[in-house]
Amino acid sequence: GFSWKLNDHPNLPKGKIISMVVLDGWGEANPDQYNCIHVAQTPTMDSLKHGAPDKWRLVKAHGTAVGLPTEDDMGNSEVGHNALGAGRIFAQGAKLVDLALASGKIYEGEGFAHIKDSFATGTLHLIGLLSDGGVHSRLDQLQLLLKGASERGAKRIRVHILTDGRDVLDGSSVGFVETLETDLAKLRENGVDAQIASGGGRMQVTMDRYENDWDVVKRGWDAQVLGEAPHKFKSAVEAVKKLREAPKANDQYLPPFVIVDDSGKAVGPIVDGDAVVTCNFRADRMVMLAKALEYEDFDKFDRVRFLKIRYAGMLQYDGELKLPSRYLVSPPEIDRTSGEYLVHNGVRTFACSETVKFGHVTFFWNGNRSGYFKPEMEEYVEIPSDSGITFNVLPKMKALEIAEKARDAILSRKFHQVRVNLPNSDMVGHTGDIEATIVACKAADEAVKMILDAIEQVGGIYVVTADHGNAEDMVKRNKKGEPLLDKSGNIQILTSHTLQPVPIAIGGPGLAPGVRFRKDIPGGGTCQRRCYCDEPTWIRGTQ
Ligand code: 3PG
Ligand code: CO
Repeated sequence: GFSWKLNDHPNLPKGKIISMVVLDGWGEANPDQYNCIHVAQTPTMDSLKHGAPDKWRLVKAHGTAVGLPTEDDMGNSEVGHNALGAGRIFAQGAKLVDLALASGKIYEGEGFAHIKDSFATGTLHLIGLLSDGGVHSRLDQLQLLLKGASERGAKRIRVHILTDGRDVLDGSSVGFVETLETDLAKLRENGVDAQIASGGGRMQVTMDRYENDWDVVKRGWDAQVLGEAPHKFKSAVEAVKKLREAPKANDQYLPPFVIVDDSGKAVGPIVDGDAVVTCNFRADRMVMLAKALEYEDFDKFDRVRFLKIRYAGMLQYDGELKLPSRYLVSPPEIDRTSGEYLVHNGVRTFACSETVKFGHVTFFWNGNRSGYFKPEMEEYVEIPSDSGITFNVLPKMKALEIAEKARDAILSRKFHQVRVNLPNSDMVGHTGDIEATIVACKAADEAVKMILDAIEQVGGIYVVTADHGNAEDMVKRNKKGEPLLDKSGNIQILTSHTLQPVPIAIGGPGLAPGVRFRKDIPGGGTCQRRCYCDEPTWIRGTQ
């Protein structure tokens, strides 16, 4: 039968303190002026790369190597940390939704049956990120769901869009809205009353995460549920075009808007008796809205009305909270994660990041499960992130504070695994601000140094790696790899992640002599990191 017990490694010493450092959005790419990691001063990461050649290598962090549908799918933090934490590859939400739509199984489950009961008398509301980024959602999945739901009796449909510009190019929102409008027009021709009802930029409206700023969710609630927003338009294409004209406006940060009819009335507030689907498959940025929609007891903001609706998530977003309770597609069952093994084998763990990435080293790491496995064996520390700013304004973020916490945890010798996420290169990279991203990379490098110094002091081991690329390439390129220019001759900034591989380095005084990366696994992905060394990445030998 199955046992949590891990056997000791036959010849490696046990009990060494190990630190796992995940640099978020830190890939490897050609050294040019758009590679912020190259331009920034990063002496610590450079020394790892140019140090012992068998203790540094690159691994894939995108595509099928990490459980994404195709090789064109860039990596992201959810799949990256799921893979790191579980040490195995799982078909991710994106893929599972694709399969459920292709087979039609999505319409046969309990989740769809639940919402379908509203179709005769109520409106079906779809809320989600509108792009083909494939990180949180995909436009083609929304299109299929619209078609499928209308064929199965949805007579009145309202879509509440969130514009992207973060997983896709800024400015692409206009095209996505136009595509959606064309689809909705076709539905109307077939007698379905289908319209966009509200919208806003993903970083302004609805898609906050880890409870960093509930105002973001409230702004969405006001528009989607109450039909109230500072901006009112007759059409969503017009809304997005107009709102983008404001100085410094971008897709990520568009203010909330509602679509109104000729009499100025919002066309699609959510009311009792309606059905709601949150269409994102990725969890982190939908959990807060799911709570607002589902929890009767709720004090994060004034909802004005608690809705009696039929709600389903595209997936279940939190396996521990069972949130939401109804969902269209079952999430990947990420079980037997390293964190759970460790608590069962007497290994104490410490995890830390700042709010905007805190769930990455806890929730994602543990297989999309919130909370501790065994509180007495674990300590999770969250450093509050700055909220209400874009991180190019303060690109050092909390890197130093995170490193100090890790250092103290290491030096306390109370924990055997100390893991952190350093968010800078990702969070600032997403703003598209190249100067700030250079500062961000330097700050992350300094944080790594502080942690490695502590590991040196306690005779421990370090593993430094990344979840996916971002800051190493800040420009959109053609097939030849040359920067693409827009109509005015400016380079097209890449705010998204990349398809680049990421580094992994091992070392520290506690690493037994002769431990090195294997050279015979050329196509490895992030979850296979631990197979590369003759020593397991975790404290004691895993399988
Ligand atoms: C976000 O949610 O900020 C981006 O879509 C993806 O970034 P992450 O995968 O690094 O969190
Ligand atoms: Co990112």
